[in-house]
Amino acid sequence: MIAYATNQFESAGAQPPQISVIGTGYLGTTHAVCMAELGFQVVGVDVDDLKVAQLADGILPFFEPGLEELLRKNLEAGRLTFTTSFPAATTADVHFLCVGTPQRPDSPAADLRHLGAAVDALLAAQPKPGSLLVGKSTVPMGTAAAVATRLAAEAPEVLLAWNPEFLREGFAIEGTLNPDRIVLGLPDDPAARARAEDILRAVYASAIESGTPVVVTDFATAELVKVAANAFLATKISFINAMAEVCEAAGGDVKTLATALGHDARIGPRFLAAGVGFGGGCLPKDIRAFRARAEEIGAGTAVRFLAEVDAINLRRRARVVEFATELVGGSVPGRRMAVLGAAFKPNSDDIRDSPALEIAELLRTAGALVTVTDPAAIPNARRRYRELRYADTAFEAVDDADLVLHLTEWADFREIDPALLGGNVRNLLVIDGRNTLDAGKWRAAGWSYYALGRPNA
Ligand code: UGA
Repeated sequence: MIAYATNQFESAGAQPPQISVIGTGYLGTTHAVCMAELGFQVVGVDVDDLKVAQLADGILPFFEPGLEELLRKNLEAGRLTFTTSFPAATTADVHFLCVGTPQRPDSPAADLRHLGAAVDALLAAQPKPGSLLVGKSTVPMGTAAAVATRLAAEAPEVLLAWNPEFLREGFAIEGTLNPDRIVLGLPDDPAARARAEDILRAVYASAIESGTPVVVTDFATAELVKVAANAFLATKISFINAMAEVCEAAGGDVKTLATALGHDARIGPRFLAAGVGFGGGCLPKDIRAFRARAEEIGAGTAVRFLAEVDAINLRRRARVVEFATELVGGSVPGRRMAVLGAAFKPNSDDIRDSPALEIAELLRTAGALVTVTDPAAIPNARRRYRELRYADTAFEAVDDADLVLHLTEWADFREIDPALLGGNVRNLLVIDGRNTLDAGKWRAAGWSYYALGRPNA
């Protein structure tokens, strides 16, 4: 049971701030729903009619455990609405800016078009004087200062804060309601700073009361915390994948190596799972945008290592393709391959920069007959990769397969009985690209089990 943050306003006889959330993608929808769950009156604004209509009907356009139930509950309670009309948002006291900042099609830099358009639309709708605009989108350093300059010129009564979001897909509700930390990037002017901090502390009162640390800082540091955190996580994953490459040459076992490293509390065991590497809508584009922006501001040398982090990550995908080719005897055309996994990680239907699908597509373009299965991501995969084949279950996907590739570590795949699955394939050959299948069990069932960075005897 969640203690509503708004209770404190009620007991003080004050009105809780009304909230608008601009951009109802993954981040914005989660934030809007969670703010409503805390008891605030929330309006979600987006330019996409279809998405807004779905959300208003209680349909979540993506897969996130528990979120659809919470969406419906708060719609029914009348605390949450969705609209395409920016003027409808202008009664809000706090506007959270949650639009996407994808990689630009023509360069590694972040595409800030949606952010610019959202600020344009909000300013055109004339937000209330004294209201607070809070940036949550992941942005290159200097973006908040640029937005502040616009506000100073066009809406000097509107305050600005930068408050990055660190939620992980699959854990989005928990990450929003009980974050590891709250970072508040605030303006330099003391009065504006104090007012923005007061408002945000009120909005996040329940998390703060339950002990979430608050880091108060300037705009640039707040922007940087987000990209630096993702750069660190990406580096940790690429570090262990680089060790997997070394293990392959030295005959070591990267899984045991990671376990041993993780026992050192300074290193820790998390984000040391070696395999086909990181994908998704955040880590890959964020490390590229970070490098691009650092170059622009004269700090490119400091983060040049991120090019290697990216290269190590992409090499793992190429390695799986090479490995698959070797295992089917050097010639891919006409070979039947089953790919278990399409989402960039389990418990998600997100296929953005998914290692599994990139590998499947590379094998298909090399001539393999590739069939992909995934518990949640097939509809999205079908729309993007039209020439791959799809199956509803692993048992159908592996039908007559020469090779099985396990590329997204859903629990469903871990629970498969390899002896039963073996009855459907042509060859008992599996590459475990995520190092999470029970190697002993698969081998005992007669499979030749191969993993990355581990002895394959
Ligand atoms: C990531 C960060 O973890 C969040 O803190 C951040 O807020 C978010 O990006 C964001 O910027 O919005 P997310 O993309 O949801 O979250 O996914 P992660 O759980 O970080 O996984 C990223 C990728 O790394 C996945 O493809 C996953 O399979 C891979 N991974 C993760 C590994 O290959 N090994 C690991 O040990 C951990």
